[in-house]
Amino acid sequence: MIVVESFADVRAASSGRVGLAPTMGYLHNGHLSLFRAARADCDTVVASIFVNPLQFGPTDDLGRYPRDLDRDAVLAEQAGVDVLFVPSVEEMYPEPPRLELRIADLTDHFEGAHRPGHFEGVAIVVAKLLAGCQPGRAYFGRKDAQQLSVIRRMVADLSFPVEIVPVPTVRESDGLALSSRNTFLSDDDRMAALTLSGGLLAAADAVDAGERDGAVLEALVADRIGSEDGARLEYASLADAATVQPLVELTVDAFLAVAARVGETRLIDNVAFSVGDDSVTVDRGVILEGPSVLEGS
Ligand code: PAF
Repeated sequence: MIVVESFADVRAASSGRVGLAPTMGYLHNGHLSLFRAARADCDTVVASIFVNPLQFGPTDDLGRYPRDLDRDAVLAEQAGVDVLFVPSVEEMYPEPPRLELRIADLTDHFEGAHRPGHFEGVAIVVAKLLAGCQPGRAYFGRKDAQQLSVIRRMVADLSFPVEIVPVPTVRESDGLALSSRNTFLSDDDRMAALTLSGGLLAAADAVDAGERDGAVLEALVADRIGSEDGARLEYASLADAATVQPLVELTVDAFLAVAARVGETRLIDNVAFSVGDDSVTVDRGVILEGPSVLEGS
């Protein structure tokens, strides 16, 4: 694996089918599953690590976002990355971008409503990564369900010649979705955080049992979180996966998304549904067999 800091060096080190996995570092098993998916179907695997200031609002956690490049480099190499791209802010933004990328409608609700400007910042950095690294495939986690929908739409609207590959959420053995922000959770916070996945997995079971009513599914999540003093619900909502509009009934591909504050940390999670002619397939993510690489970090 080589570590490079410029787009030109990424392109010089890439050949054949190039797979890109964009990250903000402090890698966990969810990121490693992006790298492994890319390794399985690409000749060159590029992983980027860049904590993108443009996607953090003034009250977000940019300053305390965890960083450890030495640790990340070891994990990335073990997971099969060929090129680790760690641009400086100056490489990424030689000048503050004048371009504004607003993906209308898809960012009206959920994370878009709670984090104004967030998706505009994500769109700019992902567009730059796609243009500068020129991958044939780019890998994104399903845990950021709205981000995935927004990026797919941006890529379609701009005709980027790249295939967006979604990768299932990775969960700890107790169900908690992996996130670099989990490192902020105290033992008590962590117990409270389990209400997010607990509620979602209960709703997933309800869908398997035939439930299709959005309000019923949302209540399964909201009530679980409401029963826990240590967690404050921001939203629990069923959304159309293509349009990211709230959905009254599960009739099209969708995700049930939740955001809550646990202590000082804001967490998001979701389960996804593919609607077939006479059945619904539920994607709960995958459960880790052993301890996560975040343990002990
Ligand atoms: O999902 C993330 O980690 C970030 O939003 C991304 C896609 C790397 C853009 O900064």
